Amino acid sequence: MATRYIAGEQRIDALNRAENIVKKDYDITFDLLGEAVTNKNEVIAASDEYLALLKDIQSKNLPPNISLKPTQMGLDIDKELCFETVSNIVAEATQYQGFVRLEMESSKTVDGTLDVFHQLHKQHGKYIGCVLQAMLHRTHKDAEKLLTNNPQQLNVRMVKGIYVEPESIAFQDPKEINQSYLKTTKLLLENGAFVAAATHDPNIISGLNSIISELPEAKDRIEIQMLLGVQGALRQELLKQGFRVRVYIPYGEAWHKYVIRRLKRNPKLARFALTGMFQKSEI
Ligand code: FDA
Repeated sequence: MATRYIAGEQRIDALNRAENIVKKDYDITFDLLGEAVTNKNEVIAASDEYLALLKDIQSKNLPPNISLKPTQMGLDIDKELCFETVSNIVAEATQYQGFVRLEMESSKTVDGTLDVFHQLHKQHGKYIGCVLQAMLHRTHKDAEKLLTNNPQQLNVRMVKGIYVEPESIAFQDPKEINQSYLKTTKLLLENGAFVAAATHDPNIISGLNSIISELPEAKDRIEIQMLLGVQGALRQELLKQGFRVRVYIPYGEAWHKYVIRRLKRNPKLARFALTGMFQKSEI
């Protein structure tokens, strides 16, 4: 089941997959699978892999764009370790005019992640971005704070949120999650931020089109992001409509948690994956 959603276990698998995807006019971002790291050696190993990846991306002339998880960079061990590790990776990416996205994990990590992002953004500006999860009640306020504290060159990936969270802090109703997604996206776009709308949901896409018709100049500040192996037909259609579309390419040996989290959030995926096994993946 994992092979549909994951490029492979090795860096070379991800690079090969990326070359094919880029030929089809999509943008890409790489993700080394792994999270909730509890010792410093694992942080160093993940960081070394990202640094080696950036070098290989450069030598293959691919766009240097990576996504990384704060807890893989040591957030659960020490916030300063996380900051130093990511900062070092961003400094390397900056040399190639690359971009690093600090992802968002479970609600327990949101404060720490936004603190680290705030510091990184002060230091690296347009080379670092963050993620906000529409399902969390706090997200609209977090967006307001980001716009106040990091107003220049703010780049936010909007997602619904993959982690299972209690109703005391998170919307459970898909309609409410979509409303929150579009409300926060609009706020960010109205205030000059770049929004990477990560979604496969046609309702969100149609909401984005409504926002663009109200704010036409914002079209240049939006891209759509989709996961490898998901909704290929929609992705092609969006490209035809003139959207920039970025495909998320996960790789690495730690693929098990990634797949299980997606299954927990959306048990229908087992069916998609089974169907997918008998279909040729489009990229
Ligand atoms: P929704 O879940 O409603 O899906 C819409 C339709 O897309 C489904 O009905 C189904 O047909 C299809 N679909 C969706 N996912 C599928 C899958 N895996 N396989 C097959 N079909 C699928 N979350 C987070 O908490 N932190 C993060 O940092 C990120 N980062 C991130 C990056 C990128 C590029 C993407 C696309 C997503 C994330 N996410 C994330 C995950 C995100 O929070 C969310 O769980 C998924 O994108 C699914 O939400 P949709 O908006 O696609 O809608």
